[in-house]
Amino acid sequence: MDQNLLVATGIKVTYAKHAGLFGSKPSTPVLHGVDIRIGKGQTVGIVGESGSGKTTLGRALLRLVDVSAGKIAFDGRNITHIPETEMRPLRRRMQMIFQDPMASLNPRHTIRRILTGPLLLHGLAGDAATALEQVKSVLDRVSLPAACVERYPHELSGGQRQRIGIARAVLMQPDFVLADEIVSGLDVSTQAQALKLLKGLSRELGLAMAFISHDLSVIRAVCDYVYVMRLGKVVEEGPCEQVFASPSAAYTRALLDAIPLPEYDPGWLERRTET
Ligand SMILES: Nc1ncnc2c1ncn2[C@@H]1O[C@H](COP(=O)(O)OP(=O)(O)O)[C@@H](O)[C@H]1O
Ligand SMILES: [Mg+2]
Repeated sequence: MDQNLLVATGIKVTYAKHAGLFGSKPSTPVLHGVDIRIGKGQTVGIVGESGSGKTTLGRALLRLVDVSAGKIAFDGRNITHIPETEMRPLRRRMQMIFQDPMASLNPRHTIRRILTGPLLLHGLAGDAATALEQVKSVLDRVSLPAACVERYPHELSGGQRQRIGIARAVLMQPDFVLADEIVSGLDVSTQAQALKLLKGLSRELGLAMAFISHDLSVIRAVCDYVYVMRLGKVVEEGPCEQVFASPSAAYTRALLDAIPLPEYDPGWLERRTET
């Protein structure tokens, strides 16, 4: 079994609502005690219907929302309540790739600035020339031409922007990457290319990843282990093949039945990216 990287136990999250008419603040519990373990270098899937709490769980793991109960440990360290100043050096090691890279890439900055800025900020490159070398090398790895650095985000296609988002995360040399519904907006073959790229990178770099998706066919294309969420709880978990071959929860069976592919096709990802 892989060594633990990120372990969350008994996670509860409650969103505070805005003050009501009489100043009361009713709140909505969204996660009801979730346990999740991500090993070093492991790719874990988190699947469930919209509203089941996947994004909230992902944000809780990265300490982007407060938990009302439970514990989060990253690389052996309890980070549940450490102050933001102590989180900051860890943030480089825990990266996030967004569903809509357009929303997370500054439209007024060139790709050069978007990608070299964080390298200089985190001291991963000593000067602009070194940073640019690192950027070009990663752009090559994600199959984007080096000339991309002079472009602005809106000048790239959706699939290219997704690769910029992946490059930006990978450049930080993280241990963990959270990918929340990152391929949802892309057509199927662009999805497959992005997934294949991430899977390759995670192997090469020993990256651990959490893949959030409402789509089981995405999860089973890339994940080793899967958590199935429903209404803020984990209803089933296990190695992917096991869960897909014999789901024990009725809910997982219903999700599986909803997959458009009639049968599990292990070659799906490979064939989709042949062209
Ligand atoms: N900022 C927020 N404030 C209040 N409720 C929220 C907030 N974000 C999400 N929720 C609610 O929490 C529940 C889980 O949402 P979310 O974690 O986004 O689920 P998923 O990613 O699985 O679709 C939903 O009922 C949603 O309406
Ligand atoms: Mg979500």
